[in-house]
Amino acid sequence: MLTRCTARSLASPARLFSTSAARHTKVAVLGAGGGIGQPLSLLLKADPLVSSLSLYDIRGAPGVAADVSHVDTPSEVCGYPADKLDNALDGVEVVVIPAGVPRKPGMTRDDLFNTNASIVRDLASSIGRVSPKAHILVISNPVNSTVPIVASTLAKAGVYDPKRVFGVTTLDVVRAARFTASIAGVHPNETPITVVGGHSGATIVPLLSQSVHGKNIKGEAYEKLVYRIQFGGDEVVKAKDGAGSATLSMAYAGAKFTSALLRALNGEKGVITPTFVESPLFKDKGIDFFSSNVELGVNGVERIFPLGHVSAQEEKLLEACFPELKKNIEKGRAFVDNA
Ligand code: NAI
Repeated sequence: MLTRCTARSLASPARLFSTSAARHTKVAVLGAGGGIGQPLSLLLKADPLVSSLSLYDIRGAPGVAADVSHVDTPSEVCGYPADKLDNALDGVEVVVIPAGVPRKPGMTRDDLFNTNASIVRDLASSIGRVSPKAHILVISNPVNSTVPIVASTLAKAGVYDPKRVFGVTTLDVVRAARFTASIAGVHPNETPITVVGGHSGATIVPLLSQSVHGKNIKGEAYEKLVYRIQFGGDEVVKAKDGAGSATLSMAYAGAKFTSALLRALNGEKGVITPTFVESPLFKDKGIDFFSSNVELGVNGVERIFPLGHVSAQEEKLLEACFPELKKNIEKGRAFVDNA
């Protein structure tokens, strides 16, 4: 299964892209055979800053890799079966993790904890051993807990750098822009919304008051919009009727965040997006991880922005967010610390 693919994937990016001054990056997708993993791998194949794509899954990754590798962009694609995780991680600078089970109707993201916690912990442990300097982008739910799991696992191994561990909350940002735009009757480009907090239900806090269009949405329309941003994932879970949760919009959001990080790693300035990271903002409340606007840079997290002015309604949403988020973070930490 490895043969030529491995040899080529280890070739110097400089040789593959000798005409370009841009820095090119080896990216791994862990869980590449899944509903998110497949379209995400396709979108990353189209990203010009990816020089090499390493696709790993316990099922089906070589097939996905063979398929995606025919797309006519320069990056090399290699697929790795279940027993080749270390090979998949060799030399990677960015690792995106959509491995694990998705929700079925009636489930919360926390209901996934028992299965996904150990999957994410074991993958993080391998990353810490094989590619300890990699930037890790966690998609697997519950993100509020899986990010602390990654952080604690790396810390145990002595290789944790909070600048390089991210929970991908971009789908909440994408949904907020789309839903707000449809109410305001404008293009989603005109409705960027900063979404802060965590990534599940009440922990998702859209700061609509900071948006030119969002701040005009009031009363029942406001309440409905906030609810839709917080629970938009349920619409998809219900419509898929047992076949999983958001995969295509999530792949889009995952590729969007990965692309933002790659641009920042490549030296682009001013790349700012919400993401769930270790954050000083609410440490006084015992909340060590929080999503807010983060400037990305050549080393990952460059600067964490405070929330700025929030409305009285948003204060209330934050009050509802804090206890649940704290519980989710502690649950993730305890899973690693008490093992
Ligand atoms: P899926 O079941 O279609 O795919 C998951 C893949 O992970 C499968 O191919 C499976 O073989 C693989 N896998 C399981 N254990 C693994 C391991 N130890 N190593 C490598 N691969 C492994 O699920 P889907 O729909 O792709 O969702 C994946 C995760 O993403 C779920 O936890 C889901 O809740 C989460 N998600 C996160 C979102 C976010 O906004 N952050 C949005 C939507 C889903």
